Amino acid sequence: MTINDYNFAGKKAIVRVDFNVPLQDGKITDDTRIRGALPTLKHILEGGGALIIMSHMGKPKGKVKPELSLGQIKDEVAKALGVAEVKFAPDCAKAQEAAAELKMGEVLLLENLRYYPEEEGKPVGVEKGTPEFDEAKKAMKESQKEFAKTLASYADCYVMDAFGTAHRKHASTAVIADYFDADNKMLGFLMEKEVQAVDNVLSNIKRPFVAIMGGSKVSSKIGIIENLLGKVDKLILCGGMTYTFAKAHGGEIGQSIVELDKIDVALNVEKMAKENGVELVLGVDSVCCTGYDFGNFCVKEGAKIETFPSNAIPAEFEGLDAGPLSREKFAKAIEGAKTILWNGPAGCFECDDFTAGSKAIGDAIAKATAEGAFSLIGGGDSVACCTKFGLTDKVSYISTGGGALLEAIEGKVLPGVAAIKG
Ligand code: 3PG
Repeated sequence: MTINDYNFAGKKAIVRVDFNVPLQDGKITDDTRIRGALPTLKHILEGGGALIIMSHMGKPKGKVKPELSLGQIKDEVAKALGVAEVKFAPDCAKAQEAAAELKMGEVLLLENLRYYPEEEGKPVGVEKGTPEFDEAKKAMKESQKEFAKTLASYADCYVMDAFGTAHRKHASTAVIADYFDADNKMLGFLMEKEVQAVDNVLSNIKRPFVAIMGGSKVSSKIGIIENLLGKVDKLILCGGMTYTFAKAHGGEIGQSIVELDKIDVALNVEKMAKENGVELVLGVDSVCCTGYDFGNFCVKEGAKIETFPSNAIPAEFEGLDAGPLSREKFAKAIEGAKTILWNGPAGCFECDDFTAGSKAIGDAIAKATAEGAFSLIGGGDSVACCTKFGLTDKVSYISTGGGALLEAIEGKVLPGVAAIKG
């Protein structure tokens, strides 16, 4: 079933969205994910249906955490949808009555699904590797099914539109689909669009294909990096990863972030790049600081900021952004690209002293896009960079997925897609 073919008139639709949006003092700081879900949500309302919206927020790990309540965003959702009111069910597993009373054209938002451990389906309070763990896991799988069945009981049909969470095999993203027949479950417009964007990159590669991977750790990106080495023409590795590579060649990196246990991995990436004929582009200089406050995204009073070669950083300095030579190198590598994938910033872009690296990348991507490249940007930080630098309209596609996008690009089948498409 596709969302375009389904007749929502007189039907209650339970829609899994990813409203895991960043909040500051209870206010949404980036509503990309809410805007992303609107076409599906509006389509259902305009088609004469009623909406039951469900999502997680953050990682409350099975506990009620008021600071992660979806109640905080209820009015913003109403405003975005253009409806007078969004009703709220403060307990997602006890919303039978609220769902039963819902009239066509009305909207009900369920409280954070992850207040229940059943959503993720991981046993709580039992240590992994103990004999009790396997038993607890089995029991949890059963309660997860019950939880999913309860959610399913609220509605006539199920729409999966949470691309950002589609890589999770959770009660609301996958298990719930078992309780609807094939004619009453479908992917939403956002899912379809995201899957298409990934497909554009993977099966319709126009060359040169340049991928830019940033962020702090090699370990969290190694799966996608290895996978990309078989596909791209150039791979730019930036951000904190730079220093693990510099260290691997005996560089002095001062206080910069490093994964000493991933030196072998870094060397292997270099070897694989050579074997695959991929040009690996690493930063050569870094903007460094003697005192950065990571909590408040600012330079501590009296701290010094200087630029050094990335492999000759004095002991008291920490590399926090790509230096001018690196920025030039990155921009040059992106020039002329026809397919571009960007995930992860080149530095601590939240602080204006360390935005230049990410901005140089963003600008180069925008320029290549204007010259005909297809550019796909994913991951909260890269998306935030595009917003900060006013580039959202200058790139081809901004994904609402972080981990989900990377897994899709790795070629993995996302459980949220498999649950619908089999
Ligand atoms: C995300 O922010 O990437 C998604 O909402 C998924 O969140 P998770 O990594 O906590 O599952």
